[in-house]
Amino acid sequence: MIMEGIKIIGIEKHFEKKILFDISLEIEKNKITGILGPSGSGKTTLLRIISGLEIPDKGAIYINKKCVCSEKIFIEPEKRNLGFVFQDLGLWPHMNIKEHLDFVLESKGIINSEQKEKEAVKILKLVKLENYLKIYPHQLSGGEKQRLAIARVLAQDSKILLLDEPFSNLDPVLKKELKKELVALQKKMKLTIVYITHNPSEIFDIADKIIILKDGRIMQEGKPKEILKKPKNKFIKNFLI
Ligand SMILES: Nc1ncnc2c1ncn2[C@@H]1O[C@H](COP(=O)(O)OP(=O)(O)OP(=O)(O)O)[C@@H](O)[C@H]1O
Ligand SMILES: [Mg+2]
Repeated sequence: MIMEGIKIIGIEKHFEKKILFDISLEIEKNKITGILGPSGSGKTTLLRIISGLEIPDKGAIYINKKCVCSEKIFIEPEKRNLGFVFQDLGLWPHMNIKEHLDFVLESKGIINSEQKEKEAVKILKLVKLENYLKIYPHQLSGGEKQRLAIARVLAQDSKILLLDEPFSNLDPVLKKELKKELVALQKKMKLTIVYITHNPSEIFDIADKIIILKDGRIMQEGKPKEILKKPKNKFIKNFLI
């Protein structure tokens, strides 16, 4: 059955060598799904395929029951209505915070200055950056930059967020705080979040479901508690320590 959220069926991908082998999985709506695996296991490649930045050799992808990729169909990334935050964040150095938000709001057709200001402040409040409108990325701390990247993606109105190692360069205290904010936002805005990381401790406390990837194959999937209780093999057991 094709469900809401994201459904992936039989994705295969090779570059010089084969990277993903017959990946099928479901990402449930309004939940946080963690994709966890060691470096080089194919996590970013999988996320790029979901977003449409990479074309798989085989397989199909459905987003909210709509086929966006199959042998015959290919929907462009900007038409998939997904929000991404990649590890390097991709902030625009020449734009202040307000301008980052304006750019997205204008692309959605919001051009009235008052309306833009109202929308921008509303979104920035969610990530506690509403007092930083005139500040440029180089004036922000690591955590504030991450929050700006999240605010920009929220401004798009996409309910599905794909986050690739979003908090990887932050100190543990800040990471904990931002994760808490992310969970609160997810609940408040009913977001569907795919959270990629190579670090089990980053995701086990917040994910509803975890998918463990190794060498381009799914090794185990399930609720964090189930995986912790019954790791399927030695590799997973050691990886989780
Ligand atoms: N465009 C590309 N061309 C050739 N090889 C690629 C390309 N993109 C990824 N790869 C290879 O695919 C494999 C998986 O890479 P990927 O970036 O998906 O891993 P990852 O799980 O995200 O790793 P990390 O945790 O280090 O970010 C790696 O061996 C990488 O070198
Ligand atoms: Mg990666």
